[in-house]
Amino acid sequence: MGLVRIQKVMSDELAKRVFLSRLPEPPYEYIFNDPADSIFIGTTKRFNVPFTWTFNALTNPHISVVGITGSGKSFFVKTFLVRSSYIWGTNALIIDWAGEYKAWVKQSGGVVVSLGKGDTINMMDLGGARPIDRAKQIMTSLDIISDISDFPEQRRLTAEALEQAYVNAGFILTSVPPPSKDAPTLKDVARLLEEKLQEGTYEYPAELENAIYRLRQYSREGQDYFAKKSSIDFGKVINSGLVDLDLSGLPDEKFRALAALFILQTLKEKMRAQTWSATKGIKVMVVLDEAWKVASDERSDAITIVREGRKYQFGLIVASQNPTDINEAIFSNVGTNIILRIKFQKFIDYIQGSLNFSIFIRNEISRLGVGEAAVDMSFQTSVQFPSTFIINRIVGEVPLDSYTITLADMVTDAELRDQSVPKEFIFERLLLNSKLVESNVSTDLIESIIMALDKRNRIVDLKEFISIMLERNVAREHIVSLMRNMGIPDTIIGRAFAYK
Ligand SMILES: Nc1ncnc2c1ncn2[C@@H]1O[C@H](COP(=O)(O)OP(=O)(O)OP(=O)(O)O)[C@@H](O)[C@H]1O
Ligand SMILES: [Mg+2]
Repeated sequence: MGLVRIQKVMSDELAKRVFLSRLPEPPYEYIFNDPADSIFIGTTKRFNVPFTWTFNALTNPHISVVGITGSGKSFFVKTFLVRSSYIWGTNALIIDWAGEYKAWVKQSGGVVVSLGKGDTINMMDLGGARPIDRAKQIMTSLDIISDISDFPEQRRLTAEALEQAYVNAGFILTSVPPPSKDAPTLKDVARLLEEKLQEGTYEYPAELENAIYRLRQYSREGQDYFAKKSSIDFGKVINSGLVDLDLSGLPDEKFRALAALFILQTLKEKMRAQTWSATKGIKVMVVLDEAWKVASDERSDAITIVREGRKYQFGLIVASQNPTDINEAIFSNVGTNIILRIKFQKFIDYIQGSLNFSIFIRNEISRLGVGEAAVDMSFQTSVQFPSTFIINRIVGEVPLDSYTITLADMVTDAELRDQSVPKEFIFERLLLNSKLVESNVSTDLIESIIMALDKRNRIVDLKEFISIMLERNVAREHIVSLMRNMGIPDTIIGRAFAYK
């Protein structure tokens, strides 16, 4: 490989410089690794050394990525996953809060699982766990997303009913059943509590009613995304290449957090069941982007993966605009921190407090351009150089400029189930451009519309999309012609305008 020759030249060159100056960058042998066994990220700012990442010498394979909106977090994640898949055959699971990765994953040939828009999970699936442990995990998830822990009686009733539902379905609480056996659902659990209420002998019916109400939130018809047979085998996601778990179709943050926590629990079980093998690199990379509740709570299995992942070659990438949303146990323990542009002084203070970099680096961080970063790595052995350094713009895989328009806000439940009604449209930038041109939208306006879409991460629902155009005085008839051109049925177009 050509890079190896570069390495030789640079090693001589650098050896001289290291001698002459106080090095603000780690010596090249700490940042430039075997290109066949590491991931190229970019070049260092000071000496232009190729920075190729591997965790061989690091405390662990986990990565935090922080930076303001638009600083390049998702771009880094995508670039990393593509190369890691290429170099190590890494499987990736993206826990995609805002549906931000969906279009890219689709176009990269990955699998998109859209919870709330067709795909379902049964929270009570065991995935190799014992019923008694799964019941505990479900209670922990409820503790994280709700205030049930403040109501011990409700909590106890729920925990008991969870176990009872397994027993009634023929499971033994303390043993792992064969995988083919269907688990009960939260509906069964709610039903058990309802029966208890109807018996009328329980001392605190109000507690019982509240416990039922809590469960019904997740098992009522229309909101029972987690109380139905799972539409995919979540145990398999760890060897399915690139998987996007799109949570954007779920009704609110609680649902999203619940789904994410369930997935992390399942992953943890699968991780612990791995046996050691002589493969290089990372086997599975889990991505948590803006999943603050899941990354911030110490009971979340994101933390278990950070603690135990290394020996199983499981890595976690946590990305956030706000570093204080990432639990201290994660933030200060990841082997690599990628710090993109940050504006708020208090966020820089927080990071500096944890990583201890110089004022020089601090100033650089507040001046970074899009895709430029400060990198900090924790080596397993103690090192004599400052561990934070600046890199030039991350060299990415060419991004797919795709734009998504969803109809989720406009379709009725019946249409949602109807395969012939489109639920979303994904356009390459050029295609969207030409559709707008065909509908007689002027070039200036097109540019401004595209910018507005960029600002919203290139995903909008139909209402927003129409507002963006109306705000720019695009004529109604042109908007209608565009929608027809996209294949949106007239009934839905009519409905979307009726909202205006
Ligand atoms: N290293 C880079 N090289 C080229 N373009 C980049 C780079 N990093 C980011 N960009 C571009 O900048 C824009 C914003 O990047 P990105 O979506 O990754 O930001 P983000 O930090 O994830 O923002 P948000 O917090 O809003 O999700 C995108 O159009 C992306 O293609
Ligand atoms: Mg992003």
